Amino acid sequence: MNILILGSGGREHALAWAVLQNPKCDRLIVAPGNAGIAEIADCATLNIEDGSAVVTFAEENAIDFVIIGPEAPLAAGVADRLRAAGLLVFGPGAAAAQLEASKAFTKEICDAAGAPTAAYGHFTDPASARAYVEAQGAPIVIKADGLAAGKGVIIAQTVEEALAAVDEMFDGAFGNAGAEVVIEEFMEGEEASFFVLCDGENVLPIGTAQDHKRVGEGDTGPNTGGMGAYSPAPVMTDAVTQATLDRIVRPTMAEMSRRGMPYQGVLFVGLMIKDGAPRLVEYNVRFGDPECQVLMMRLGAQALDLMHAAAEGRLADMQVNWAEDHALTVVLAAAGYPGAYSKGSVIGGLSDMPADSSRMVFHAGTGRKDGQFTAQGGRVLALTARAGSLREAQDAAYRMVDAVNWPEGFCRRDIGWRAL
Ligand code: AMP
Ligand code: GLY
Repeated sequence: MNILILGSGGREHALAWAVLQNPKCDRLIVAPGNAGIAEIADCATLNIEDGSAVVTFAEENAIDFVIIGPEAPLAAGVADRLRAAGLLVFGPGAAAAQLEASKAFTKEICDAAGAPTAAYGHFTDPASARAYVEAQGAPIVIKADGLAAGKGVIIAQTVEEALAAVDEMFDGAFGNAGAEVVIEEFMEGEEASFFVLCDGENVLPIGTAQDHKRVGEGDTGPNTGGMGAYSPAPVMTDAVTQATLDRIVRPTMAEMSRRGMPYQGVLFVGLMIKDGAPRLVEYNVRFGDPECQVLMMRLGAQALDLMHAAAEGRLADMQVNWAEDHALTVVLAAAGYPGAYSKGSVIGGLSDMPADSSRMVFHAGTGRKDGQFTAQGGRVLALTARAGSLREAQDAAYRMVDAVNWPEGFCRRDIGWRAL
């Protein structure tokens, strides 16, 4: 099978790495890819949010299966365009991608499905949003409705902060994403990410993970795209997993089908768990980054069979071969991230790194110049290891971190602390 993966992050490097282990993959192209992905697969320049360009590229390269990594092409309807052209795709169409692209849509689906989530109000003008904040008090959560690259959520500790956030969003701080605002009850508890594959009808859990969203150790400082992750997440006990499937995931999938937009792809279920009861924080319509790195490291070659079955509507026949293992990934980011950072510094030490079924350096934002890897993004590398225990996986990941020679980079030294 000839496979095309769309995307350029650590998530797509991990997807490519897993896909290549499966003998059913004859040829792999990643568009646009990055310098690390180019070490293992062909990379191609392509505007991945332009549906017709992607269709043409797939046809010209005799692609049999397209895996869409990030949310932007999904929300832009690239999966719809590919399917209309008769191509097999992993990932939802634009209508179903609203589960990530519109927070108000997701809240409405949860209401209809009876899925537990934070109480909320949805506003299109500042006056009624402000009145809701005044009535509810703080802490309270203010969210831009649309896609805001993970930055459209403000957790306000005081009413003043909340009102300022409301004004900021309606003043266009998040562009069009903030033209509508969702205001939510602040939920307490422990967060976890749960990943399921869906084929429009069936649901198959493929793993749990915990991200580390804050930039600083001990979960302090501003939010980032994710500074590290591990899988499995012990807070996702069998009982919590079952409750999540029965009360949140399956009712949501049924409601999506009822509305004529059956969901196909991976569903990233962001949860808040308190006293064993899960509530939905958010859905994403793609793998998490860096959660994907730990999931792929644990799933290996079977990841391709599972995604292919989801795309073909065959999930009912599939099962995951679970191993009793743990994976952990540490993100190395450019100094200054998530604020301003500089690009172009040279990253040394990568040529001697282990690269096997239990240790990989996934590249997120790297380039290559004069034979050397350079930093080209905020999050730059995800050093990922798998072992029989979480402690061993953590030790192995940090040994790789310590072997990287990149003075301009930094990482959190406490990835995994909550489980350890
Ligand atoms: P989201 O983009 O919706 O995932 O929000 C980003 C992060 O904000 C989440 O991962 C949570 O850590 C936090 N968050 C979002 N909504 C809530 C909520 N209602 N209560 C508490 N924390 C929240
Ligand atoms: N790591 C969180 C996300 O991918 O949204």
